[in-house]
Amino acid sequence: MRNFMAALVAALIAVLPVRATEVTLYNLNGEETTVRSGDVKRMRDEGWYYFDEIYTVVYSEDGRSLNALTNRLDEWKSVGWHENLSDVQTTLYSEDGRSITVWNSEVEAYLAVGWYRTPEEVHTTLYSEDGREISVWNAEVEAYLAVGWYRTLEEVQTVLYNENGEEKTVWNTEVEAYLAAGWLRNRPGIDASRPMVALTFDDGPGPYTDRILDCLVNNNAKATFFVVGNRLGRYGAQLKREAELGMEIGNHSWDHANLTNLGAAALSSQINNTNAKAQEIAGICPAVMRPPYGSHNASVRSAAGMPLILWSIDTLDWKTRNADSTYNAVVSKVKDGDIILMHDIHEPTAAAVERIVPELVRRGFQLVTVSELGQYRAGGLEAGRVYNSVR
Ligand code: NI
Repeated sequence: MRNFMAALVAALIAVLPVRATEVTLYNLNGEETTVRSGDVKRMRDEGWYYFDEIYTVVYSEDGRSLNALTNRLDEWKSVGWHENLSDVQTTLYSEDGRSITVWNSEVEAYLAVGWYRTPEEVHTTLYSEDGREISVWNAEVEAYLAVGWYRTLEEVQTVLYNENGEEKTVWNTEVEAYLAAGWLRNRPGIDASRPMVALTFDDGPGPYTDRILDCLVNNNAKATFFVVGNRLGRYGAQLKREAELGMEIGNHSWDHANLTNLGAAALSSQINNTNAKAQEIAGICPAVMRPPYGSHNASVRSAAGMPLILWSIDTLDWKTRNADSTYNAVVSKVKDGDIILMHDIHEPTAAAVERIVPELVRRGFQLVTVSELGQYRAGGLEAGRVYNSVR
């Protein structure tokens, strides 16, 4: 054995120096040559290179790779090859918590069988009645709902009022303690046995919102503002004031699209982006929705996840732009449980509101938000259901 090892070592020593002195070099035409190490410096001076100096690995979106001359890299890129593996691969996520990295060319096929592009799409945030929040895989949602978690903050929070009419939003588990301390479930001054109507204002906030808010405050009235998401940045002060004054803020889409024309992704971003923006600016997540044009179908009702609020009195204020006409549209037929449609982006509407609100109060109507109307007249509004009035 010892003799064999000695022979092996001798053989290696005989071979290694020869191999070690051979070097393969490459030129810019893609040719290669093998030279002795002593010749390398001269060859390099003549335009030969080590492999890594002139070749770069490029990748295709369907998983192929090849060595491209670095000085031709732009040509390869122009026909769809990429320098980084991360540019040709995509990580996808499943609703039960798996993730997978696939070639870009495979992505559509994976999406078609239930994989998703972002972790957000496969997670759902759930809430508990004592104020905890948890993010779970979509596949786990039903199990969590079965043991007392909820999909929306509205389900785990309750708005309470004190004798001065101040509002406080508390966790459901805190309600009993607040009631014992004298807080009330209903806004004081509202009498369920007397008539009430919900004024609603669409398409804002806008330059006349403040004037309408002034009028509402002066008459101890509440209303609901169905806001358009892409206006909330510009009219953030008005949105905040609506919230601070206890007005209800509803969702009227992101950019006033006809929601029945949209695919699932566009539809949910119209709704979710508006809710997120209202939450960001005013700290309030809309819990009621009015689809633009009153236009809805099963997909819209399902995606909204909120009650859909239409109207029983259409003032046509946007069309007439006439305060008398808007005033008459309301006072000529208003009755208990009506939901009245106006727009806070027109000056004649603000002028009409300044006459409508005192007149309704004079006639004994209580001006409430849409959710209050639902609470008093129907014991609450149901998500996915459509309301023209609540009587
Ligand atoms: Ni509208």
